Amino acid sequence: MAYSEKLVDHYENPRNVGSFDKGDDSVGTGLVGAPACGDVMKLQIKVSPEGLIEDAKFKTFGCGSAIASSSLVTEWVKGKSLDEAATIKNTDIAQHLALPPVKIHCSVLAEDAIKAAIADYKAKHGQS
Ligand code: FES
Ligand code: FES
Repeated sequence: MAYSEKLVDHYENPRNVGSFDKGDDSVGTGLVGAPACGDVMKLQIKVSPEGLIEDAKFKTFGCGSAIASSSLVTEWVKGKSLDEAATIKNTDIAQHLALPPVKIHCSVLAEDAIKAAIADYKAKHGQS
């Protein structure tokens, strides 16, 4: 199977690997798992007082497509508002990385992770 250059690039040089302190008020944490394969993805956002995502980090236990999807999402969300970041679709990720059909669920994991991180941040700040 031929993987796209963008996919291989994000897999070999993942951006923004790491974590923030979960207890930090400016941090939202999303931790999701893929029932299909048992892979786990943690994605965190750091939100500025103005409500913009100023930084993002991830840790993914999973396949190359899951690592590439989470790496890409951490790049995409930087500088976005929470509402803008919430509009990121797994189909955009899959298309950008040219994921093969059996790897679509890896991009779903990344969409779920960013949504979970946003929800966590909002819950911390009494927003729904
Ligand atoms: Fe092998 Fe997900 S099934 S890494
Ligand atoms: Fe399960 Fe990629 S996240 S195979």
